Amino acid sequence: MLKKFTFNMENLAVNTVYCGDSVSLIRKISPNTIALSFWSPPYFLGKEYEKEATYDSWQELLKNIITLHYEVLKPGGFLVINIADIIAFQDEKMPRIMGMNPANRKCDVTKDMILKVQSDFPNYNRRQIAEVLKCSEQTIDRRLNGNNIRGGKYAVGTHIKLVGGNIEQYAYDAGLFLYDKRIWKKDPAWANSKWTTNTLKSVSETEDLYIFWKPGEYTVNRERLTQGEWKEWGYRQIWEIPSVRANKEHPAMFPKELASRVIRLYTDEGDIILDPFLGSGTTAIAAIEAKRNFIGIEMIGKYAAIAKKNIKNAQHSQTFKSELLFPKEEKTELSVI
Ligand SMILES: C[S@@+](CC[C@H](N)C(=O)[O-])C[C@H]1O[C@@H](n2cnc3c(N)ncnc32)[C@H](O)[C@@H]1O
Repeated sequence: MLKKFTFNMENLAVNTVYCGDSVSLIRKISPNTIALSFWSPPYFLGKEYEKEATYDSWQELLKNIITLHYEVLKPGGFLVINIADIIAFQDEKMPRIMGMNPANRKCDVTKDMILKVQSDFPNYNRRQIAEVLKCSEQTIDRRLNGNNIRGGKYAVGTHIKLVGGNIEQYAYDAGLFLYDKRIWKKDPAWANSKWTTNTLKSVSETEDLYIFWKPGEYTVNRERLTQGEWKEWGYRQIWEIPSVRANKEHPAMFPKELASRVIRLYTDEGDIILDPFLGSGTTAIAAIEAKRNFIGIEMIGKYAAIAKKNIKNAQHSQTFKSELLFPKEEKTELSVI
C-alpha cells in the first residue's frame, strides 16, 4: 500500500507534476524525503530546451541541481544521473582541421607536385600554379597547409569532452558519494542508417548511470527483484536496453525499462522518487507502475502537459490493475495531479 505523506502547504506535493525551473522548485521539496532522484539532464546538444545554453551555463545548471539534492534526499537515499559521459559539441575554439582520407580525394595532385611547380616557376601565384596542375586553388591550399585546412568557410569543429568527472566532483562537494556506476548499452540503431564519418571516432552506443549516495543507512532488500532479475541485470554493470526509437512526444526520452530498473533496485514500495527533468514523464510512470510515489518537475509547458497526460493514463491502468488484485476498499488513492 502507498504511504501517505503530509507536507506543509509551501512544499511540493507528491504525485504531482510541476511546470517550472528545477533550480527554484527543488528548494520547495520537504528536506530528507526523497528516496531516489533519477533523471537525465539536457546533454548540451543544442536541443530546443537548451538552445540558449553555453557550456558554462549548462555546467552551472548541473552543479546547482546536484548540490540542491543533498537537502532533499533522505539519509541513505540515492541520486542516479543518466548521462552520456562523452559529449560532443560544436566548439569555435577547435582548430578546423579534418582527418585526411586519400581514398576520397577527387584530385590526385600531391604536395610534391605543387612544390615542383613552385620551384620551376618561383613567381607563380596560387591561381597560376592551379592552372598548371589543372586543379582548384583550394586543392593547392589543402595540400600545402596541412592537407585539409578547411579555410574557415566550413562548420566549426566538434569537440569531444568527458563530463562524468565534473558530475562526480559537484556531487562530492555537495556531500554525496559516488556509490556505483552502471552502463546503459543502447541498441545500435545507427547500424541500419546511412551513418558515415570522416573521422576515426566510434559511434556512441552507451550512456552512463552515475549513482550517488547520501550518507545514511540504506536497505539492501533482496526481495525487490526476483532471483532471475538479480542475475539478469540486478548484479550486472551493463544493462542492454533498446533506446526509444519513436521520440514523437519528446526529443530525448529514456526507456521506461531504464527508469523501472533503477527504481526497483534502489527503493521500496511507497518511497518518493524525484525527477527534476521530467520530460515526457517516464520516471513518474515507472514509479507508478512500481507502486512508488513521485514528484516531477519540467520547465517547458508542452512537455509538462504531455507528462501529465501520460501519468494520468498510467495511474488509470494501475488503478484498474489494483482493482483486479484487491477488494475495492483496500485501493489506495493517489493525489490528483
Ligand atoms: C533529457 S530530457 C528528459 C527526458 C525524460 N527523461 C523522458 O524520458 O521524457 C531533459 C528535460 O529537462 C527539461 N529541463 C531543462 N532544464 C530544466 C530546468 N532548469 N528545470 C526543469 N526542467 C528542465 C527539458 O525541457 C527536457 O524536457
